Amino acid sequence: MSIYPVEDFKQYWPENPSNLKDAVENYARGLRNLSTTVLGLVAEGLGLHQNYFDGDLSGEPMASHINFYPPCPDPSLTLGLGKHCDPGLITLLLQGNVSGLQILHNDEWIAVDPVPDAIVVNYGHQMEIVSNGMLKGVNHRAITNAEQSRMSIATFIQPSKEGLIAPAEALHSEKNQPIYKRFHYREYFGNYVANLGDKEKSAEPFLVKCA
Ligand code: OGA
Ligand code: NI
Repeated sequence: MSIYPVEDFKQYWPENPSNLKDAVENYARGLRNLSTTVLGLVAEGLGLHQNYFDGDLSGEPMASHINFYPPCPDPSLTLGLGKHCDPGLITLLLQGNVSGLQILHNDEWIAVDPVPDAIVVNYGHQMEIVSNGMLKGVNHRAITNAEQSRMSIATFIQPSKEGLIAPAEALHSEKNQPIYKRFHYREYFGNYVANLGDKEKSAEPFLVKCA
């Protein structure tokens, strides 16, 4: 499998504008490098080997969603994107200059205002599972804006579909039991799609139930 799916897909991308293929390729390569750096730092922070997330845990070809939110006359009536948790390990979000992203924290929606040229890193649900709950997959949504349109690019770093997911052994013990059983990411992903991004419902079959 290719770590950079770019070369497998570039031929299918539009010819116009003429700089599009190179721009997307550069962006994708830069983000893959960024994700490797971020995942190395997160692994270290968890007390795991720096390469812990390499291989299957981040092995799915990178995928990006380009979201376009047109201005909405009454944002109180319509969300841009409803509440969900991204399924994978981390998401790298470029959100331009218009605010719209909100994260759920202590039952309150909190705006993540754009910082020029910054990329937002959101933890996905697999990060919560692999860290045995130490890190939380963040529930988030996007609201609309009455005056301005908004565009964002969300790039998902995910385990390969056949990859095995389980809480890292170093992060559980006799006293701190694993919260989840081992499962294939494909099984989780099927639940995720069926449950429209609801993290609790998606992981329910993999919870270790107390006797
Ligand atoms: C997503 C997402 C948020 C945004 O694409 O998964 O959460 O700000 N996007 O567009
Ligand atoms: Ni999302």
